[in-house]
Amino acid sequence: MPIQTESNLIKKFPPYLFARLNAEKLAARHKGEDVIDFGMGNPDNPTPQPVVDKLVEVVRDKKSHRYSTSKGIPAFLKAVSRWYDRKYGVSINPYTEAVSVIGSKEGLAHLGLAVINRGDKVLVPSPTYPIHHYTVVIAGGKLVTVPILDGPEAFLKHLDKAAKTRPKPRMLIINFPHNPTTTCVEPEFFKEIVKWAKKHQVMVVHDLAYADIVFDGYKSPSFLATPGAKEVGVEIFTLSKSYNMAGWRVGFAAGNPKVIASLARIKSYMDYGIFTPIQVAAITALDSPEENLRKLAAVYQERRNIMVDGMNKMGWPVEKPRAAMYLWAKIPQRYAKMSSMDFAMMLLKEAAVAISPGSGFGSLGEGYVRMALVENKDRIRQALRNIKKLFS
Ligand SMILES: Cc1ncc(COP(=O)(O)O)c(C=O)c1O
Repeated sequence: MPIQTESNLIKKFPPYLFARLNAEKLAARHKGEDVIDFGMGNPDNPTPQPVVDKLVEVVRDKKSHRYSTSKGIPAFLKAVSRWYDRKYGVSINPYTEAVSVIGSKEGLAHLGLAVINRGDKVLVPSPTYPIHHYTVVIAGGKLVTVPILDGPEAFLKHLDKAAKTRPKPRMLIINFPHNPTTTCVEPEFFKEIVKWAKKHQVMVVHDLAYADIVFDGYKSPSFLATPGAKEVGVEIFTLSKSYNMAGWRVGFAAGNPKVIASLARIKSYMDYGIFTPIQVAAITALDSPEENLRKLAAVYQERRNIMVDGMNKMGWPVEKPRAAMYLWAKIPQRYAKMSSMDFAMMLLKEAAVAISPGSGFGSLGEGYVRMALVENKDRIRQALRNIKKLFS
């Protein structure tokens, strides 16, 4: 009998949708083609120098090389508390209401295991960032998708309907500014969510990954800044985007102390915490002036303007997002019969431009594509020229 190499759980993970695109991208690069890559939301700019300097300083200290703490070193957790107070006027007890995560993807993956029971119904938008779906799959919960493309008002109506179904939903995972659709909300929306969650006794997880990538004066609200939010949920934040620290793997979850305790408990069995020098350097990032964040957002805003204007000019309509580092566009009318995967493949092969098919974010993403603004202005202009040539 052959050895068993796949669990029933692993079989529930479809082959990575982006694998085909990535293989094609690699092949094109091998042929010497210059692929302009809007595929992954992987920030192209470097981590701020003071953060790098702090890492180097601490890593030289021989005492910093031992196991760290899974929950996060107290100094990091205190920095999280300062960050919430300064940015949102939210009071977070660093010892009971915050935990470090090895990037929010890890935090979200383990959060499901820590709070969902097998068969529990969990509401998640579609389309969405994949771990929001897969944390439910990993935990053996019952995933129920909620359409997000019609906007926040319609989303709330869908939630009301979902709350009336039986068994009752146990958890809701949301993310605003939203990846991939760039949907934004106002504080009033979170008030409705808290009211709904209290009424139906549903736990809420809010992913605030794009808190600082905001344009044209828009301010993205924190879920935890909503009165009563801490009674029903937690918020998760990553340093990947705001501080160009995607490779460092550092973030945190904060909010309801019981949920935080469950997440910290499961993590204490899974990991030994983020390398201490990274946690110390992350404090430098969290304490850095807001002005730096405005400069970072301005870079994405300029790229957004060039890309949106260029696309609209060539007859590919796309809206200007108010936040996040993406454009979310319908496949152009004349290619509307193609799947988003085939359209993305065509753009890669014939225009040397890599984008993400909407179907990679859930079935309701079909018909759309996402572009991550992680190439500089000149390369964006080059991509526009390539696409225009393909379309003409
Ligand atoms: C909504 C959202 N959450 C989380 C992440 C991942 O963040 P991290 O690098 O902290 O795992 C991403 C990355 O693209 C994202 O878009």
